[in-house]
Amino acid sequence: MSLPLDLLFDAAKGAFTRAYAPYSKFNVGAAILADNGRIYPGCNVENAAYPAGTCAEAGAIAAMIDGGGKRIEAILVVGAGEGLCTPCGACRQRIREFAGPLCPIHIAGPEGLRRAFTLEELLPYSFGPENLASEQS
Ligand code: THU
Repeated sequence: MSLPLDLLFDAAKGAFTRAYAPYSKFNVGAAILADNGRIYPGCNVENAAYPAGTCAEAGAIAAMIDGGGKRIEAILVVGAGEGLCTPCGACRQRIREFAGPLCPIHIAGPEGLRRAFTLEELLPYSFGPENLASEQS
């Protein structure tokens, strides 16, 4: 029986290999463990009109929502290169929409896990749905 982290890594690594990144040549794969116990992968999909490209995390979140998941319990990102492929600013906010402050964000390279952060470490003092809810009567 594989641990959830191994399953997350395998799913993200699979997405990493399928990424469409002909412009940056920087493949990224992500996988979410959702509240329903399922794993949702996604990869980056670039575009000739560069800003229209999408990140791996955005793809995984779209798959989770379409698949019936409501919350992110953990997310794992696989990126190439020597550095830590931490989610970009916009993706930190995208994750924030569906995750609590202690949600683990695991960062990996193709060889395996490198480091883990919590969401609040990567996005402190964040703005989220609760901010808007407090304005409702
Ligand atoms: N990218 C992701 O998909 N996720 C990240 O966490 C960082 C960056 C993508 C966007 C673009 O396709 C490529 O990596 C280079 O920036």
